Amino acid sequence: MKVLVVYYSLYGHVHALAEAVAEGARSVAGVEVDVRRVPETLSPEVLAKMRAVECQAAQSHIPVCTVDELGRADAVIFGTPTRFGNMCGQMRQFLDATGQLWAKGALVGKVGSVFASSNTQHGGQESTILSFHLTLLHQGMIIVGLPYAFAGQMRTDEITGGSPYGASTIAGAKGERTPTANELDAARFQGKHVAAIAAKLAK
Ligand SMILES: Cc1cc2nc3c(=O)[nH]c(=O)nc-3n(C[C@H](O)[C@H](O)[C@H](O)COP(=O)(O)O)c2cc1C
Repeated sequence: MKVLVVYYSLYGHVHALAEAVAEGARSVAGVEVDVRRVPETLSPEVLAKMRAVECQAAQSHIPVCTVDELGRADAVIFGTPTRFGNMCGQMRQFLDATGQLWAKGALVGKVGSVFASSNTQHGGQESTILSFHLTLLHQGMIIVGLPYAFAGQMRTDEITGGSPYGASTIAGAKGERTPTANELDAARFQGKHVAAIAAKLAK
């Protein structure tokens, strides 16, 4: 049973969620988890202008994903920062290279799930996840979200990401906020939930 966590993270917030998602998935017996980044599309000059060089270096130990790896996984959990209410271009470009998998039906019946990050609380986390689901549905994947069984998404005593569609974090206007304990719990829950469902499907 293989669960693949594939993400893009410019400033580290999605990366932190990805590690928590992977931890949750690993807690399911018999599940092997790989964490991968999608290829960067920005030049080193642009990354420097965006003050992302250090954050990128901190993720350099994570292997870059190949399209073929998607086909070998039983479940794929995707993580993306919000870009104008959608997934980021790096993820879009990666997904647009999966036409051969689509043609072979290689992802049909596999579990797909999405988590996200945005700067602002209502800046498009839900639209990012839901619009991402369209691509997964075209690939024939079985969409899994973050059920209300994760009660932390009902909290009103603190600002928190997380919705029935998937785990998320609010990075703050300047990216100064780091994922909270509740947001990381949501990510772990989603990872475990996806892995458990994939294990049931594999039986
Ligand atoms: C081009 C661009 C568009 C963005 N669009 C949004 C947006 O629509 N809503 C929002 O709240 N944040 C937006 N952001 C902020 C990112 O979502 C934020 O930097 C990201 O979630 C942080 O995650 P990361 O640290 O993993 O890169 C945008 C950032 C960039 C560079």
